[in-house]
Amino acid sequence: MSERRDEPANGAPDDRSGDDVARGPEAGGVDSDGGSIGPMGPSGPIGARPGLWRHVYASIFRHRFDDTRRNRMLQITSNSFLHLHPATTRRHGLRLRFTWGMGGVSFLVFLVTLVTGVVLMFYYRPTALFAYLDMKNLEHEVPFGMIMRNMHRWAGHAMVITVWLHMLRVFLSGSYKSPREFNWFVGVWLLTFTLLLSFTGYLLPWDQLAQWAVTVGTNMAAAAPFLGHEGPGAGLTGVTDRTDIRALLLGGPQVGDPAILRFYVLHCVFLPLILSVLLVVHFWRVRKDGGISGPPEPVEEAATLESVAATTAAQTAAETAGATGSPAVTPTGGS
Ligand code: HEM
Repeated sequence: MSERRDEPANGAPDDRSGDDVARGPEAGGVDSDGGSIGPMGPSGPIGARPGLWRHVYASIFRHRFDDTRRNRMLQITSNSFLHLHPATTRRHGLRLRFTWGMGGVSFLVFLVTLVTGVVLMFYYRPTALFAYLDMKNLEHEVPFGMIMRNMHRWAGHAMVITVWLHMLRVFLSGSYKSPREFNWFVGVWLLTFTLLLSFTGYLLPWDQLAQWAVTVGTNMAAAAPFLGHEGPGAGLTGVTDRTDIRALLLGGPQVGDPAILRFYVLHCVFLPLILSVLLVVHFWRVRKDGGISGPPEPVEEAATLESVAATTAAQTAAETAGATGSPAVTPTGGS
């Protein structure tokens, strides 16, 4: 303990005399919310980085640098992005054998489609005159255009497959059961919007395959119950070939300029927006439903809030004792 007190982390010169943003309580240090951020530890609040860099580091991060359980938790809870994760997680939730990782992979490929899709938008005009030419131009003239297009295309295809696999895993592990019924319901809409994204994107290259596939698809929509003029219940709702779901999608009697514009707006704005909102709800529910489903943890492995709090308190006491020169207290548990 006493050895480490004189030895700053990372081999940096010990500099505790400056205006520490992240001073511990015994030095009067508080974080931006007014809460204590812990005492000066053996290696200083931020790994004892000197001068300006120390100040910059402490203005961004509210935890110290050393690898303790408490700091690992603070790294998660005090970070804008990481705090979406729980500070602790159950072991089986990390087992690939249980989750297949397909939810995470679905999200990853969705992000790939978002980024590459925005790049494609710089080169693409959604009109019958330009759409096909712009795709060819993108492939053959634009630097990295071919790879961008194919990354978007393959990530889109992959997403359909991985979302199905994720749903299959959730079904096979019975994870749709209470208390996760609502998240299953949200998931069904996620699948629907994933398929709609795939369908609307199919028209955009404006080649023969695209035009005829969407002709077939929208003709099927004309036979939808109540919504299509050829479907059952059309008499009840009074829809005609000019007012049914097919006409709404195409903006006219057949696939043409208005259809490509509608599919473009649906594909690039409307559907990704709704899917993103649903994803936020989905992830939030995973946390609120108690994390990934699975068997209860064995008692000795359960990282309950109480045990974490006890460990943290013991570590804090040990560090305080070390910093003030009092006899060291051996932390119980922790890292
Ligand atoms: C865009 C599509 C989707 C994404 C990105 C997504 C993402 C995720 C992620 C990251 C998890 C955490 C655990 C894991 O990876 O398995 C999860 C859990 C879950 N998902 Fe999805 N999901 C999607 C679609 C669906 C669908 C289609 C369903 C079912 C109809 C569904 C139902 C669930 C349920 C019930 C859980 C909790 C599982 C558990 O606690 O074991 N999700 N999802």
